[in-house]
Amino acid sequence: VQMSPSIIAIDGYAGSGKSSTARAVAERLGFAHLDSGSLYRAFTLAALDGGVPLDGEVIAALGRSLPIRLALTVDGFRPETAGVDVSRAVRGDRVTAHVSAVSALPAVRDAVNLILRRAAELHPRGVVVDGRDIGTVVFPDALVKVFLIASPDERARRRLRQDGKQVDPDRVQSQAMNLEARDAADSSRPVAPLVAATDAVEIDTTTLRFEEQVERVVALARKAFA
Ligand code: CDP
Repeated sequence: VQMSPSIIAIDGYAGSGKSSTARAVAERLGFAHLDSGSLYRAFTLAALDGGVPLDGEVIAALGRSLPIRLALTVDGFRPETAGVDVSRAVRGDRVTAHVSAVSALPAVRDAVNLILRRAAELHPRGVVVDGRDIGTVVFPDALVKVFLIASPDERARRRLRQDGKQVDPDRVQSQAMNLEARDAADSSRPVAPLVAATDAVEIDTTTLRFEEQVERVVALARKAFA
């Protein structure tokens, strides 16, 4: 019999630490990390570069033809477009400003979900997948589901540090407004809105050290997969 992979789903708000937590948890457990947001960002970058209309079928087809895919690396997967590593390029402000609109398109979501499910199958040992709808839509049977939250100001500070920007009160305020606008858009869309799965464990990371939040998820995983 084919073993189904062990799946850890980490969802949450923008800048709540999903990706960094998922990467560290994957490393601890010897699992692979799948960053679903990086794929939505790759589709957004391709749509912007291609100058195509905001049409799900068109953008999904563009993604298939380039193609946009997740390429296996030593510690997980990274997004590639036409064979080029785009993991840095997709973090740009222009992509961030447009990604919520692109990710609201059902055809784009189907394309991303297909890539995620195939990548998970490639890794029978297990994957840690982070995003907005992983525990609700993409892998509803995941044995471990976590929903990360943190205060908007703390999320803004983390995102500024992550982007190598200066952390001063004005920047924190405008970054927090950007994050909250994206959260509002992601939470109110009709398809796969950002919402905690009913069986997800909520972890508020506002005052947690990074190592602590990683340890909490690892502990949940060890219990679930024991
Ligand atoms: O890292 P950050 O919190 O800024 O966001 P991300 O995980 O890179 O995701 C970027 C955007 O992709 C989100 O704001 C959502 O609009 C979309 N997304 C989604 O709709 N569903 C997912 N599973 C992951 C991301």
